[in-house]
Amino acid sequence: MDINDITIREARQEDLDHIAGIYNSLWCNWIRASGALDDWALCGRLNAAMQLQRSPITLVAERNGGVVATCLVGIFDHGAPRTNPEWQPAYETLLAQATERAKTADDDLEGSLFGDSREKATADRFAASGNEYAQGQINLIVMRPEWQGLGLGRRLLDEARARMRDEGCSRFFLMSDNHSDYQFYDHIGMKRIAEDHSQDTGDGFIVYIYGGEC
Ligand SMILES: CC(C)(COP(=O)(O)OP(=O)(O)OC[C@H]1O[C@@H](n2cnc3c(N)ncnc32)[C@H](O)[C@@H]1OP(=O)(O)O)[C@@H](O)C(=O)NCCC(=O)NCCS
Repeated sequence: MDINDITIREARQEDLDHIAGIYNSLWCNWIRASGALDDWALCGRLNAAMQLQRSPITLVAERNGGVVATCLVGIFDHGAPRTNPEWQPAYETLLAQATERAKTADDDLEGSLFGDSREKATADRFAASGNEYAQGQINLIVMRPEWQGLGLGRRLLDEARARMRDEGCSRFFLMSDNHSDYQFYDHIGMKRIAEDHSQDTGDGFIVYIYGGEC
């Protein structure tokens, strides 16, 4: 596998299920393991659409017609996140489905459906506080496991930085957590600027905010 064979382009509507599939393989597998395949599909699609609708810059990495990775990038205008109107309708439809499902869901499923949305609310509070890094935000960077460790993450972030510069950003931030590959951001020289323990429900869950230069 060679990342030089990969094309980076804007996400299209038909990419939603591919992005959802990558998201699900990393974070919602426990739902599939429980046999609730409809819930598993909803979890991935809702979270993918939620990230897409708050990302004016939507990069996907494609190889042989298949999406192997994505990097979704938000832009803040005077401390408020800009939305992506192209993805708003899909998000609203999925949000309505998930809200209905959540009425009878247990806490674990509710957390998988809406945990990332809560993290975005934390990001928005951080941006509204006027922090100097809150110009752009990497909302999501994920790839199929077989593509990890080949330089694709670095390439996607370089492209994201260039696109943020085009939007007038000089700094950006992202949120990760100690259940994800947060050490990647330390390794590539980003600065840990804040951490949040408020979502620790006894499992030691910590959210980290990293800042970087465009
Ligand atoms: C985290 C992720 C985006 C990194 O992308 P990647 O393509 O695997 O990383 P790269 O191959 O571009 O690595 C670039 C450098 O970071 C290092 N690196 C990669 N993953 C790392 C990790 N988890 N911890 C520490 N260093 C890491 C590489 O060794 C490489 O170092 P080098 O350039 O000095 O040789 C990717 O592995 C991924 O999708 N992980 C699962 C989802 C996730 O956790 N996303 C991010 C958290 S929200």
